[in-house]
Amino acid sequence: MANTRANKRFRSQEWFDNPNNPGMTALYLERYQNQTHTRAELQSGKPIIGIAQTGSDLAPCNKIHVFLMDRIKAGIRDAGGIPMEFPVHPIQETGKRPTAALDRNLTYLGLVEVMHGYPLDAVVLTTGCDKTTPAMLMGAATMDLPAITLNGGPMLDGWFKGKRVGSGGVIWEGRRLLAEGKIDYDEFIDRACASAPSLGHCNTMGTASTMNAMAEALGMSLTGCSAIPAPFRERMEMAYETGKRIVAMAYEDLKPSDIMTREAFENAIVVNSAIGGSTNAPPHLQAVARHMGVELNVKDWQTVGYDVPLMVNMQPAGAYLGESFHRAGGVPAVMAELAKAGRIHGGCMTVTGRTMAENIADRESFDHEVITTFDAPMRKNAGFVVLSGNLFDSALMKTSVISDDFRRRYLDTPGSEGIYEARAVVFEGPEDYHDRINDPSLEIDDLTILFIRNVGCVGYPGSAEVVNMQPPDHILRGGNTHLPTVGDGRQSGTSESPSILNASPEAVVGGGLAFLRTGDRVRLDLNEATLNALVTEEEWKERQSEWTAPDMKHQTPWQEIYRTHVGQLGDGGCLELATAYQRIARDLPRDNH
Ligand code: FES
Ligand code: MG
Repeated sequence: MANTRANKRFRSQEWFDNPNNPGMTALYLERYQNQTHTRAELQSGKPIIGIAQTGSDLAPCNKIHVFLMDRIKAGIRDAGGIPMEFPVHPIQETGKRPTAALDRNLTYLGLVEVMHGYPLDAVVLTTGCDKTTPAMLMGAATMDLPAITLNGGPMLDGWFKGKRVGSGGVIWEGRRLLAEGKIDYDEFIDRACASAPSLGHCNTMGTASTMNAMAEALGMSLTGCSAIPAPFRERMEMAYETGKRIVAMAYEDLKPSDIMTREAFENAIVVNSAIGGSTNAPPHLQAVARHMGVELNVKDWQTVGYDVPLMVNMQPAGAYLGESFHRAGGVPAVMAELAKAGRIHGGCMTVTGRTMAENIADRESFDHEVITTFDAPMRKNAGFVVLSGNLFDSALMKTSVISDDFRRRYLDTPGSEGIYEARAVVFEGPEDYHDRINDPSLEIDDLTILFIRNVGCVGYPGSAEVVNMQPPDHILRGGNTHLPTVGDGRQSGTSESPSILNASPEAVVGGGLAFLRTGDRVRLDLNEATLNALVTEEEWKERQSEWTAPDMKHQTPWQEIYRTHVGQLGDGGCLELATAYQRIARDLPRDNH
């Protein structure tokens, strides 16, 4: 190792130690010396390790990283690297309007520019809240410099009146109870805030915990990193160890392209089914794969992941929250159990410098109530079904959250199991839904299927989490909490709704959903994985020829840029032109003066 270290010339030395260009070297050195570092450090030949800071007052889910920073930097120093923290554009799921999803690609772009244009040799990517993790992984993929993710960990479990209350779920349940008149406004707010008792990201298996589990399953974080609750001692240790490890990765030149292979993505898909992961994982992983140059298709989520059982008893698919999941063994325990069943590619390289099989070799579940064995799961065949038909080319349904009540009402019709035919009611967006959902003239009954459109990447813009529409009040009072819902937007990863979502292409770009009308009959066939409007081909074509794209008002320059270049959710919702840029770390930018 000593020899390798002595011989290694890092990218950052092109800035700070280039005798062939003293004019520029002087300019680079003087300003980085005036506050942050000495000349001896900058010319030491040690790797400069960027730390992408995603936490701030505006991004509370990731604010823990402000406090972890000392430990990350200590790890980097102790291993012989030089840390340089830098800010990234905030993405706060619950703060950003019209949706944080709009900013995933903006943060990605910003990260790529920082990593490419500054003297960095490797990066620690801090992650946590939903879109921060994919944005960081997408940037790492495009750049292909040594990179490691460190998530902030979930909040402690929430409790209200002696009952576990989890992120997101507490809101969906509270909205229902409020609509039914069972709680008042103040209790609604109190319950919601009780679900968030500490620093950290969502404590349910929502998109945050899912995406951090995905980063770990891909091999991009240290083993066991994702599930440690934010305030725990082990979180601090993990920050230190992550800082130490990235320095070794810089010397080893262990890059995302060595780790995020097709097999690694298959591991992630399998883990997603086993943990009851979020419906946001497919577009996010699709985006990471495309930036990495790995072949992945939305249909892979069904072919690779559908027959995997649900093994984690965590809300929304189960009962527990983050603390229990961590104590039961977290992601390594799930992967060890999957590996025993032959469902993990054990040979995948990871950031530890060892294979996934080596990382998880001695891991196991310590609590089978929370992490089950593969053979005695909570539910069999718990992955996503990927549907298609005349309404869209692809849409997802998360089967692990289909309740017995929903199954009985809509899917277990004797003689036609898995087939459901009903009348459609169509909303043009969440405002239209809120205005009209209780309108008696819509004649919504227990058999109706609710549709929402114009809420995808281009339509919203950014794709909104609005497909999990609550039934009208009279249906709720009748005891039915979930009508079937379909849309070209997304839904929260914390939702227990078995919606059909992420429909691509979306309505505003001429996808089939655009031509559906209230009153049409639609037919869902889960056995064939199809959803079709039962409208004659002739009539459908006529509607198509009459259709004009709705006018869309951009409110910011980024909204216009995003809408011009974004693709569809089924393809990851990427900036399409950005996917052509791959492994750009070695293409050094020109000097700036
Ligand atoms: Fe940020 Fe859930 S809202 S993690
Ligand atoms: Mg959300």
